[in-house]
Amino acid sequence: SLAVACREKIFDFNIKKLPIKTRHQHPRPLPHPPSSAKIMLHSVRYTATKLAVPATAVSLALYASSSNEVLAKEAPAVDLEKVRDTIVSVMEEDAEKRGDGTSLAGTFIRLAWHCSGTYSKADGTGGSNGARMRFDPEAKWGANAGLGVARSALEPVKAKHPDMSYADLYTYAGVVAVEESGGPKIPFGLGREDMSSGETSPPDGRLPDADKGSRPSTVQHIRDIFYRMGFTDREIVALSGAHAMGRCHTDRSGYWGPWTFAENTFSNEYFRLLVEERWSPKATHNGKPWTGPDQFEDSTGKLMMLPSDIALILDPEFKKYVEMYAKNEDLFFTDFAKAFSKLLALGVPFAATKAWYQFW
Ligand code: HEM
Repeated sequence: SLAVACREKIFDFNIKKLPIKTRHQHPRPLPHPPSSAKIMLHSVRYTATKLAVPATAVSLALYASSSNEVLAKEAPAVDLEKVRDTIVSVMEEDAEKRGDGTSLAGTFIRLAWHCSGTYSKADGTGGSNGARMRFDPEAKWGANAGLGVARSALEPVKAKHPDMSYADLYTYAGVVAVEESGGPKIPFGLGREDMSSGETSPPDGRLPDADKGSRPSTVQHIRDIFYRMGFTDREIVALSGAHAMGRCHTDRSGYWGPWTFAENTFSNEYFRLLVEERWSPKATHNGKPWTGPDQFEDSTGKLMMLPSDIALILDPEFKKYVEMYAKNEDLFFTDFAKAFSKLLALGVPFAATKAWYQFW
């Protein structure tokens, strides 16, 4: 089994712990909008709203090519900066209520990912368009357990910004969570539409399982799931770095614990810990035998890795990228921003001849 494979493999590296970083202490200032000719979507909207350009002009600009030829219909008039502020307030108020150091940030990122990760390149089904997770069957999928927490938390945001579709809001909340936690700017486009039922939901089983029972099966499963969406090995590893954020909940997936000591900070800690820590199968929890699914723990027992996380250092091709990102956080940020942006746009008819994220 994978557990045995991991037990046999010695991951005996120097254990270096970084101090816990919080959003406010994060050393890296948020990147500024780029000034190059290939303007990022986000900065177009950002600049335009700051200059109070009429919403129509902003919307058209979003869908214009570099030669200013308008490729598509108008996007809804939504002030993303105002929506961001509301999302941040919701996250902050919620974190204060919890008072235990956890937050909605990771769950928002997971919501954005699970809305989008159902996409199939072969037939164009699935993806974030439609916000079908509000309905059965997606609402009840085991993989989506706990995401109702994120959807409910976003209801007041939707009430305050009714022009934004749920589908845009669910994905944008993930973008805001990454950016406000010290992560990179994520190019983001509006234009998803809500469907009124889950009738066009794809079949269950499109989101990844954390364990397929053996190392080769788990590795193959990860590739099957992400290749179906059109991702490369490098993109798979970059996306997995989102596990720096948030945690597993025994009442949602059955797994327990956070991946890093700073679960509200977006960083390359996930990769650094993967290569530098010694990971062993979890046997106990709070002094009692662990009865949950097979997972791994660090030497302190406070951090965790899923079998699918450990698979990334057992497969040589994946491991290459894990090591690369462990050494170079800037590279991870650049790659994550591109891959996450691509993920959130999968299957979305932005009504452009070329996907908007390919403009730069
Ligand atoms: C092989 C691929 C993946 C597997 C098997 C996997 C599995 C899981 C599982 C089991 C959880 C725990 C859920 C819970 O108990 O609340 C989780 C949480 C999470 N996942 Fe993944 N995941 C994968 C890829 C991704 C990707 C691509 C992203 C984003 C780009 C992501 C972002 C997250 C985040 C942020 C959390 C924390 C959620 C929270 O704090 O509530 N995961 N994942």
